[in-house]
Amino acid sequence: MEIVFASRHESNPLEWVRALQAALPDHRVRLWDDEEPSGRADAAVVWAPPAGLFDREPGLKYLFNLGAGVDALLHMPGLSDRITLVRMEDGGMAVQMAEYVLHYLIRESRDLGRYAAQQAQARWQPLADIDRSAWTVGVMGAGVMGARVAQACAALEYPVAVWSRSGRPVAGTESFGRDGLADFLARTRVLVNVLPLTGDTRGILCRSLFQQLRPDAYLINIARGDHLVAEDLLACLDEGRLRGAALDAFSQEPLPPDHPFWHDARIQVTPHVAGASLMDLTVRQIAGKIDAVAQGQPITGIVDRARQY
Ligand code: NAP
Ligand code: GLV
Repeated sequence: MEIVFASRHESNPLEWVRALQAALPDHRVRLWDDEEPSGRADAAVVWAPPAGLFDREPGLKYLFNLGAGVDALLHMPGLSDRITLVRMEDGGMAVQMAEYVLHYLIRESRDLGRYAAQQAQARWQPLADIDRSAWTVGVMGAGVMGARVAQACAALEYPVAVWSRSGRPVAGTESFGRDGLADFLARTRVLVNVLPLTGDTRGILCRSLFQQLRPDAYLINIARGDHLVAEDLLACLDEGRLRGAALDAFSQEPLPPDHPFWHDARIQVTPHVAGASLMDLTVRQIAGKIDAVAQGQPITGIVDRARQY
């Protein structure tokens, strides 16, 4: 097969091309070139590919995404139904997502932010002991990321509820299906969003949802910026409905310098780094799938276009 690597975001695309070529000695891997027309590629490995990809490579049969979320790809003009879209399954991201969530969960539930503020005043003041039953974690999404996040929180003995379309069970947690959203929210003190961005989930993190959480709730959004209605978050923080939020993904990235999130002490901002797909694991996974499809074998991780994930 001929494979083109096309990403507007990778700082060192040639390193990816070399790694993919080394893992795929029976195939040809090349870097996307804006100038050189080709039209021969059977597959593309992409993250935020150039707009001209589908015009310039009309023979594409497979699109391998370097990330888990395919929302941006699904909206690219020219993405034909004939192309099989394949997402990353973990690739080292899930454990990082779990670390990210544990960091903010522990910071809130163990008052570590308040102790940092006390240190700035050289103040020695033990605060109340943790009551774990008051810190139920509610994870939206029970997929590759959500299940790992939920299990990591449960391993530290936090009560964990998980909500997904199908109510998919996650060991050691309480599972809720689509119709169980109200019960799920009523239990939740720390809400973690790891849903894919689809027509059903866009704007789901809004005032009416925040109002159903336990008092003094905290939001961790590590999925997509468009899940969140920013003005509803700010209003709920002002009203004391929410105590704070950790946000990794934003409607506009990079987050503009004048955005209110930057300077709000109740909000922790990170630049879309909660879970990075690691090169070794990613190359191994994609190369394994390319070899499989070249031999006519089935692969996992194919995106269901109707579900949008
Ligand atoms: P996944 O394996 O496809 O899991 C998606 C989960 O969401 C499934 O449990 C699915 O339910 C559930 N779901 C989908 N639509 C739903 C709806 N309308 N209502 C309720 N539940 C719904 O995806 P993943 O690999 O865990 O990744 C999830 C998202 O995380 C990605 O799409 C991406 O946006 C984000 N992400 C962010 C970063 C980062 O660095 N910030 C890194 C990786 C991923 P079923 O189980 O019933 O199908
Ligand atoms: C990152 O945001 C991903 O979807 O993998």
